[in-house]
Amino acid sequence: MASLGFNLGFYFSDVKNQRHRIVSGSGRARVFSCSSSSQASPPGISAATPPEIELEFFGPKPGSDGSYPADKAKAVSGEKLLRNIMQENKIELYATYGKVMNCGGGGSCGTCIVEILDGRDLLNERTDTENRYLKKKPESWRLACQTIVGNKENSGKVVVQRIPQWKK
Ligand code: FES
Repeated sequence: MASLGFNLGFYFSDVKNQRHRIVSGSGRARVFSCSSSSQASPPGISAATPPEIELEFFGPKPGSDGSYPADKAKAVSGEKLLRNIMQENKIELYATYGKVMNCGGGGSCGTCIVEILDGRDLLNERTDTENRYLKKKPESWRLACQTIVGNKENSGKVVVQRIPQWKK
């Protein structure tokens, strides 16, 4: 059988930065393929990390010290709905009624309301569902289950007011 590699007659000086597959056979190891992570990616293939959106969430009521409690999260741009990001990070989304009666993100209950305090341009446009449920509400209000965070290319920060209907 023809060998696709060559016998090992040397040692890599920095094994952590080398990726290779060693095929053992007939007493000697052979390098089957070899590449180094320090090499640049081939043209047209990007090794860069995808852009991220940073999120900050403020509660609707101040704490005992008068400050508004804040939660933080991060998401890859354009991959997730705001509702999913909040649930994955255990950030409270629903007011009392929505906690027990929400539609599970189907766009048919209108209870997943948030207000976007900053970074509206990093989100998708309001959907028809949102225009129907939020017709008489401020433009900054969104339904979290309809809101896509990022567009796969942008990055930046979105500041969200939770349960804006409770805001004082
Ligand atoms: S969860 Fe029901 S409309 Fe968003």
